[in-house]
Amino acid sequence: MLASAHREGERERWFTLHAAYAPVPPPAPAPRGDAYRWSRWLSLIPSSFRPRLSPVRLVAICNHKGGVGKTTTVMNLAAALARRGRRVLLLDIDPQACLTVHLGFELGEGTSIYQVLTGGMPLREAVRTTAEPNLALVPSDLELAGAEMELASAIGRESLLKDALHGYLEEEPYDYVLIDCPPSLGLLTINALCAVREIFIPLQTEFLALRGMGRLVEVVTLIRRRLNPLLRVTGIIPTLYRSGTLLAREVTEEIKRHFGSYVFTTKIRNNVRLAEAPSHGKSIFAYAADSLGAQDYERLAQEVEAMPAAATKPITHIHASHEDPAAPEEPAAPEVA
Ligand SMILES: Nc1ncnc2c1ncn2[C@@H]1O[C@H](COP(=O)(O)OP(=O)(O)OP(=O)(O)O)[C@@H](O)[C@H]1O
Ligand SMILES: [Mg+2]
Repeated sequence: MLASAHREGERERWFTLHAAYAPVPPPAPAPRGDAYRWSRWLSLIPSSFRPRLSPVRLVAICNHKGGVGKTTTVMNLAAALARRGRRVLLLDIDPQACLTVHLGFELGEGTSIYQVLTGGMPLREAVRTTAEPNLALVPSDLELAGAEMELASAIGRESLLKDALHGYLEEEPYDYVLIDCPPSLGLLTINALCAVREIFIPLQTEFLALRGMGRLVEVVTLIRRRLNPLLRVTGIIPTLYRSGTLLAREVTEEIKRHFGSYVFTTKIRNNVRLAEAPSHGKSIFAYAADSLGAQDYERLAQEVEAMPAAATKPITHIHASHEDPAAPEEPAAPEVA
């Protein structure tokens, strides 16, 4: 009796030891569905010829000049696309947080893009639904003003937004992601330009509209070369257009001379309703659906939707007379003997 109990104990010990030291069997293979088979086939095709698996359009609305209509354009273009049934995600990466306020959110409540960039918080935690149908927002925060300093020595600091966004887009299908950039070419804007494939540049149709554009094109070219080869300037949006004035017509002609087919046909006219809508926390469609502003942004949305995929050639040059004289020059390459 005692002997058999001892043998049982030995057996149990042997099994326990065996279980502890035996090689762990490989996990059962996950069921492989259509997606797996497609990805195997696609991996055999050179990447430049692969069809796009995800149809999402990632667009940064960017101009380092202040007050040219970036936020107004992000808000109302997004609302127009959302009303056409597109799922749109907005990212406010401007520390001024105008887009966040425009959508009626209080600052400093809940998770914002600041925690995503500096604290590694998943983007999903920061996404808010808005009063507009199909429109979600990742809000900004005044704290974001210090983010560039905080991230100055972070490894991979240029791709923090890209990593957070692309991970989230694998879970959530959107048709458009629009990023409202701050009026600077600092780390926040560079993060936006690393995360997107397209840039729309709003240009105010005023005297010296093209001043400083040389610097922007230069930065885009550098980012394309070093960080994001997919990046393209795909559209120039004439904004704050004063209908009936000679100056607005001439400036628009000049913009077209420089950027040709990249300039949207739609001009966003000066319209007081567009300036009033933010204080009501509404898009132009919710605030004044029959205004000129609503008509212009609806037309712009139609153009954006109709853009051919081929409209993605890079803009790499600009007329020398419009180079920003204040912009620092690229250091000349050292001569090699
Ligand atoms: N088409 C327009 N008609 C009338 N007012 C406009 C129009 N577009 C923008 N505005 C107003 O001009 C001001 C600047 O616009 P907006 O905030 O969109 O520019 P921005 O480029 O985002 O500025 P910032 O560089 O400071 O972020 C705002 O008060 C806005 O309401
Ligand atoms: Mg703005």
